[in-house]
Amino acid sequence: MEVVICSDEHEIARLAADRVVADVEGANRPILGVATGSSPLKLYAELASRVEAGDVDFSHGEAFALDEYVGLPPEHPQSYRHTIMRTVAQPLGFEGSRVHVPNGYTADLQGEAEKYDAAIVDRGGVDVQILGIGSNGHIGFNEPMSSLGSRTRVKTLTQQTREDNARFFDSIDEVPTHCVTQGLGTIMDAKAIVLVAQGAHKADAVAGMVEGPVTASCPGSILQLHPRVFVAVDEAAASKLQHAAYFRHAAATPLDPGV
Ligand code: F6R
Repeated sequence: MEVVICSDEHEIARLAADRVVADVEGANRPILGVATGSSPLKLYAELASRVEAGDVDFSHGEAFALDEYVGLPPEHPQSYRHTIMRTVAQPLGFEGSRVHVPNGYTADLQGEAEKYDAAIVDRGGVDVQILGIGSNGHIGFNEPMSSLGSRTRVKTLTQQTREDNARFFDSIDEVPTHCVTQGLGTIMDAKAIVLVAQGAHKADAVAGMVEGPVTASCPGSILQLHPRVFVAVDEAAASKLQHAAYFRHAAATPLDPGV
């Protein structure tokens, strides 16, 4: 896991965007895994400016979202389909028909979840998955105690996640109780992962993900087993890392190509 401690959210966005662009380089049809939530918004804005500058092109690409609420119609402004179209697909130039979001508004949630995993495999897999992390260590909506090998399926949201997300709704009672989320096994199949986190409320989750034991108690810790993970965090989110000095040293000591 490559961890970079950044001075601010602009540096996070810039370094994370560098990595995303490098991870899709050469792909005629880049397959991007996309997260909702506040953490990657600056990264998406940075990627949009790279698209505008002609550094990267997603117009033939496909996007796969991590998750969706159960019970919100796709046109609901807080549905993740709506959010992904507004914050990612349109600014980055993805064609609407090539933006995939799990179906949380169907009688056959499990059948649709299985089709979702099959569609990712059919497109050749996700080239790079963008992630945030919940304050309880979740990635996607894989709440603590999710199976480390899980595939896309229905999950019950924790009360903490519903409270964290209540800011997007008029009241907590409107926050759905369930979601459909890519499983931890599905996320681990991505060829590369770029995770961004900001703020002191993410410090425990970041420390558990990077340095804690690999455990279902902190679902993000499964990423320790992935061979290509780039983590960009600010000082506050890095504040509980025991190995912060090593991460700073490694970032300041690039390999001399002549060696
Ligand atoms: C979003 C998602 C979640 C969020 C996490 C952090 O699709 O799956 O794992 O990344 O809850 O949310 P923010 O970024 O709003 O703090």
